[in-house]
Amino acid sequence: MKRWMAVFLSLCMMTALAACGMNGANSASAAESSSIVDTETQPDAPEEADGEASDVETDETAEETSDSDGASSGSNILVAWFSCTGTTEQIAEWIVNATGADSYEIVPEVPYTEDDLAYYTGGRADQEQADASARPAISGSVENIEQYDVIFLGYPIWHGQAPRIISTFLESYDFSGVTIIPFCTSHSSGIGSSAENLHDLCSDAVTWLDGQRFAGDAAEADVVEWINSLELPESEARTVGEFDFETKTVLLNSGYEMPIMGLGTYSLSDEECAVSIAALLEAGGRLIDTAYMYGNEAAVGQAIRDSDVPREEIFVITKLYPSQFDNAAAAIDEALEKMGLDYIDMILLHHPGDGDVEAYLALEQAVADGKVHSIGLSNWYVEELEEFLPQVNITPALVQNEIHPYYQENDVIPYIQSLGIVVQGWYPLGGRGHTAELLGDETITTIAEAHGVSSAQVILRWNLQKGVVVIPGSSDPEHIRENLDLFGFALTDVEMEQINALDRNEKHDWY
Ligand SMILES: Cc1cc2nc3c(=O)[nH]c(=O)nc-3n(C[C@H](O)[C@H](O)[C@H](O)COP(=O)(O)O)c2cc1C
Repeated sequence: MKRWMAVFLSLCMMTALAACGMNGANSASAAESSSIVDTETQPDAPEEADGEASDVETDETAEETSDSDGASSGSNILVAWFSCTGTTEQIAEWIVNATGADSYEIVPEVPYTEDDLAYYTGGRADQEQADASARPAISGSVENIEQYDVIFLGYPIWHGQAPRIISTFLESYDFSGVTIIPFCTSHSSGIGSSAENLHDLCSDAVTWLDGQRFAGDAAEADVVEWINSLELPESEARTVGEFDFETKTVLLNSGYEMPIMGLGTYSLSDEECAVSIAALLEAGGRLIDTAYMYGNEAAVGQAIRDSDVPREEIFVITKLYPSQFDNAAAAIDEALEKMGLDYIDMILLHHPGDGDVEAYLALEQAVADGKVHSIGLSNWYVEELEEFLPQVNITPALVQNEIHPYYQENDVIPYIQSLGIVVQGWYPLGGRGHTAELLGDETITTIAEAHGVSSAQVILRWNLQKGVVVIPGSSDPEHIRENLDLFGFALTDVEMEQINALDRNEKHDWY
């Protein structure tokens, strides 16, 4: 009986077979204010005795900003599936549609040919299924696997069981704490023991829900009905762009978390970089913003490598300058090389310029190559974004623009945020030549006095409450610590409004 089935299925496969693995992994998936070195001293800060610039309000001119393939949307659900002739793939797609999950195709390193799949011929699939230790290699991996609480795991039934590549998948990650929901397709067999036999491949800390088998002629409605019948664990998923004041992080649309306050390094010399970054890390800060144009990428990388803080805890942003756009791929490699890092958390395009789309596409490639985790833009406003975004594939994770109480961008910020893009502000304290005025503004100082904090802290907190990430620049360890200390007070709605009313639409740099 199995033989006639084999013949029948072989015939089906003749028409439908797209050799397994051919699809590839899928959705889971200044005038350069040149060296403006005039430094700003925060007036409420103690002067340094040696006359050195006590505090460099660096032009944190870094700015920030996915289609499927490998990209994650921030969902806590993943549909991981293996399919050779498209049947399981279709079910997976419907689950993704119904749940908003990310999708990841389990792609064999060596694709299954038609001969490999012809069962009861002693071919490759038959051999693997007969060998409990067979672990066909998988091409690629799931990015950010730790973000998923629920995994739908799909496979075709091969000789009553899940293909051995599913074992490879389950043994490749630690799924502790995750709920796994198997689903399968088959010609006629039920799910049988195939799902339960997978349990031993994972830690006991995995919750397994009953599996579900779908026939080749299943309809989308069958899948939706099944999903609705499931008791999925409460989503602990975070919303992209929402600030978490407990963890002091924001979830980017790239699936990565980024600290919401950090250090800008514009104009910091190599030595200042070392001291400032050490002070930042010591005080618990984990976000560092640099750029090719700042000339200190090597020093930033060195400081990161010199620290005891694990690399993965630090989020470093750099930027490609327009002069690099015509060979962005080489510029990305150069940044990695200079910084001495295996990957860069985020690279932005410094400001619009000739070849920016091509440069951004090179950033997209760097994401695919694992060289860069997240990508974005700096100094892009509404019009620029409207023109730029349709030409690229990955939505920027971040846009970094000039934002301070005298230049609030109240029209731009909500627009960017509505696209699921996080906004980061440079010149949060007004920028060189303007800091004293801003920090001395009576509205700000009055609010600062009421909370027993500094003017700088009020302004930074105002940014955070507006959902704007802050990267004030400073070379003063005391200021660096203070600029991170933004969570012991909160501005009232009235105070927020008072600061909002200070807007003069007064740009302090040319970008
Ligand atoms: C090697 C092999 C073994 C199979 N064994 C069974 C089986 O035991 N029972 C069954 O009903 N179908 C069996 N099938 C058929 C597949 O389970 C079925 O066609 C499935 O829907 C294919 O999924 P896919 O298109 O996602 O690859 C087998 C197919 C292959 C290639």
